[in-house]
Amino acid sequence: MTEQLQQIDRQVVQWLRQIKCDLPTMLADMDLQTKTSRFDLVTNVDKAIEQSFEQLLMSHFPAYQLYGEEAHHNTAKLRVGYTWVLDPIDGTANLVKQQDDYCIILALFHDGEPVLSYIYDCPREKLFQAIKGQGVYLNGEVVPPPPTMPLADSIISFNNKVLNDETMHDLLDASFGYRLIGACGLDSAKVFTGQFGMHIHTNAKPWDIGAQFLFAEMLGLKMTNFQQEPIDFIHGGPFIISNPGCYEETLAILLQNGGYQK
Ligand code: IPD
Ligand code: CA
Ligand code: CA
Repeated sequence: MTEQLQQIDRQVVQWLRQIKCDLPTMLADMDLQTKTSRFDLVTNVDKAIEQSFEQLLMSHFPAYQLYGEEAHHNTAKLRVGYTWVLDPIDGTANLVKQQDDYCIILALFHDGEPVLSYIYDCPREKLFQAIKGQGVYLNGEVVPPPPTMPLADSIISFNNKVLNDETMHDLLDASFGYRLIGACGLDSAKVFTGQFGMHIHTNAKPWDIGAQFLFAEMLGLKMTNFQQEPIDFIHGGPFIISNPGCYEETLAILLQNGGYQK
């Protein structure tokens, strides 16, 4: 299995290198559209990256399934055999408004278990890579599990629009401080490296968190819903990825006094 994964990994890394080369031209021709609201954005860059990955699969891995945000939503057989989950651009609002802080999230599942994962921070050219049975890397350098950190010493991250004021302030008071990048993949990657203690997304889509399963498993992080149950990779939902030192306390605060919802 490991040798086969290494072979697939080489193809993916090559594809990401090609995307890196093509990106400046794609960005120069960027065209914006809205989806469900004026805040729900998509660009031709998101679509082109998903199409490019689909082409890679057709030429190298024709039996592999694709579950992608823009155009691949068939969930019928995703737990059988090999399935890729792709967010072609995570942080599209950041791309459009800031030309910064966006990433590609990509994960391979075999019979429902995560085996390869990537988060590629495009502007910073930082590639987080996890290979089951082998290791976790940032641009080829091993990423060790972060030290255990109590909530009081941790920077935490969540979307403040979806939490009620009381819960939000209780979390802020219990933590060291707050930052939000606004791209679920990049907020999660800060937890991989120990820069953040945790990241919460109250309604994660499968492609927002596809890669995080394997990183969490291999780095000794907690990744569950708010009832401490596993998350289904096909459905997503409420999501916390956390340093083990912050996890219990964060969830206790989130769920106390009737919960976090407005
Ligand atoms: C979004 C980002 C953002 C999160 C949103 C997602 P997109 O993904 O991950 O951090 O708060 O809920 O939709 O739409 O840019 O791929
Ligand atoms: Ca996303
Ligand atoms: Ca996206």
